[in-house]
Amino acid sequence: MTIIVFGSINIDLVTTTPRLPIAGETLLGETFFKTPGGKGANQAVALAKLGIPTHMIGRIGADSFGEELIENLQVSGVQTNNILITENVSSGVAIITVDHSGENHIVVIPGANAQVNQDDIERLTHLLPEATAILLQLEIPIDVVVKAAKSARKANITVILDPAPAQSQLPDELYPLIDIITPNEIEASQLVGFPVNGEETAAKAATILLQRGVKCAVIKLGAKGVYCATTDQNFFIPAFPVQAVDTVAAGDAFNAGLAAALFHKLPLREAVIWGAAAGALATTKLGAQSSLPDRMTLEKFLLM
Ligand code: RIB
Repeated sequence: MTIIVFGSINIDLVTTTPRLPIAGETLLGETFFKTPGGKGANQAVALAKLGIPTHMIGRIGADSFGEELIENLQVSGVQTNNILITENVSSGVAIITVDHSGENHIVVIPGANAQVNQDDIERLTHLLPEATAILLQLEIPIDVVVKAAKSARKANITVILDPAPAQSQLPDELYPLIDIITPNEIEASQLVGFPVNGEETAAKAATILLQRGVKCAVIKLGAKGVYCATTDQNFFIPAFPVQAVDTVAAGDAFNAGLAAALFHKLPLREAVIWGAAAGALATTKLGAQSSLPDRMTLEKFLLM
């Protein structure tokens, strides 16, 4: 059996700065590097590194970034035969600034990710019988996300949606198709229309998301921890204490950790702990796919 990741593939162009610039300011950066990223591809690589058979569906441009992105997915163990090279468009690019506290700003230029369409849903349909879950994010067109969730629901597999980048509105029909939604504080605030910044407000936001039809809301509160609610249970898991250097892809590592634990049929609380541990580990290294922990690192960390 496998997990499918249906989503974005980007090259990340990263600069580190002492602090994030304010509007209109020119700031001298300290370092620059280029690394494979994209919320979908990050989640796929994280799953493969955790030992889960993983298929990625998505698109890259016919450019050197695309070649690099495919190669990195393959080296990480992700099945890439359902990634299409799309002519006349660039691969997705993310311009990222990371400051000394590990905080970041990200601007994404979708490129080929914006071309994901019905043809990709058809390729998804062929993979569904072998899958236990699908991981979705919002860096591909939203109508395609809805179609993918519908197909997955029909095939009776678990649908996990990372509603990132933040959106103030998702189509009403999407919520009941989601088994687990995993917003961070910013994404949860946008979805519910009030600030979500701790356990209490996360509980209120989770109630609203459950009323909209999701089966489980997992709200990632960064260094504070994670709040999780279903109609039967709710709990809070404090964050693992780590020295964060870069939070890019921490959310992606979280979703992969959560999905990997569920793949092994661990209970929900345990799965949220795996997610929190994978996310925490990802903050201790620079970069997106370069920061994702493997299975042995995660297991050791969980025993500490
Ligand atoms: O979640 C982190 C990712 O967001 C980065 O790798 C970047 O590509 C953007 O998609």
